[in-house]
Amino acid sequence: MDKDQLPRHVAIIMDGNGRWAKARGMSRTQGHLEGVKRVEEIIKSARDIGIKFLTIYAFSTENWSRPQDEVSMIMRTFIMVLGQKARELSEKGVRINFIGRRQGVPTEVLNAMDEAARVTMNKTTMVLNIAFNYGARAEIVDAIKTIASQVREGKIEVDGIDEKIISSHLYTKGQPDPDLLIRTSGEERISNFLLWQLSYAELYFTDKCWPEFNEEEFFKALASFAQRERRWGSVKV
Ligand code: IPE
Ligand code: IPE
Ligand code: MG
Repeated sequence: MDKDQLPRHVAIIMDGNGRWAKARGMSRTQGHLEGVKRVEEIIKSARDIGIKFLTIYAFSTENWSRPQDEVSMIMRTFIMVLGQKARELSEKGVRINFIGRRQGVPTEVLNAMDEAARVTMNKTTMVLNIAFNYGARAEIVDAIKTIASQVREGKIEVDGIDEKIISSHLYTKGQPDPDLLIRTSGEERISNFLLWQLSYAELYFTDKCWPEFNEEEFFKALASFAQRERRWGSVKV
């Protein structure tokens, strides 16, 4: 693969764990556990190939509306996987950064997140953003509140509010916007993910469910990206 054609930042909506399991007569839990294996595989692959920022959608602000036992299974798995994998990722130079609202996340989960962030801090090979209790509208609401209070305190002028200021109040501040968005499972929607940051991302949808999305499938998405012609609203010269 030509390194020049590689996206700097890849965002992934990991969808279809439940349907993958159901189609095989398994429980949704088994689907999530198989999905975790693909998360590990894709993180390693992205890191090895030279992607600098990887953002994965693990749990949305809307996912709390799922059955209680599924939500608590996801929370327990998340705590366990962070505990088991943070050190290994750290050794591979991966910095884990969480994006999403902390408010509403159980304390044990927050503790596991803080520990994973601490263990991997200062690593520079790849940033792994894990979107957890994440919603793009919530992110924008929070940014607007902060900016509004800075205006009230006289720290910034209303006329001084520009795209840079808004970007710098999002969870992804300081990072380039995603170049490529991948969504698995055949659904072709954004589901409240990175609404601001995806403005000019190339979109890639695949019918594969997340537990089937292995390195080979990931390379197909990257190969598709390499063929795209990005124009940014301009014309080809
Ligand atoms: C994605 O798979 C994982 C999470 C949202 C946590 P789903 O659980 O949404 O699987 P489907 O979409 O029901 O098949
Ligand atoms: C998006 O998937 C959220 C995550 C992958 C964590 P969902 O399964 O929650 O999205 P919808 O409900 O199909 O839009
Ligand atoms: Mg889903």
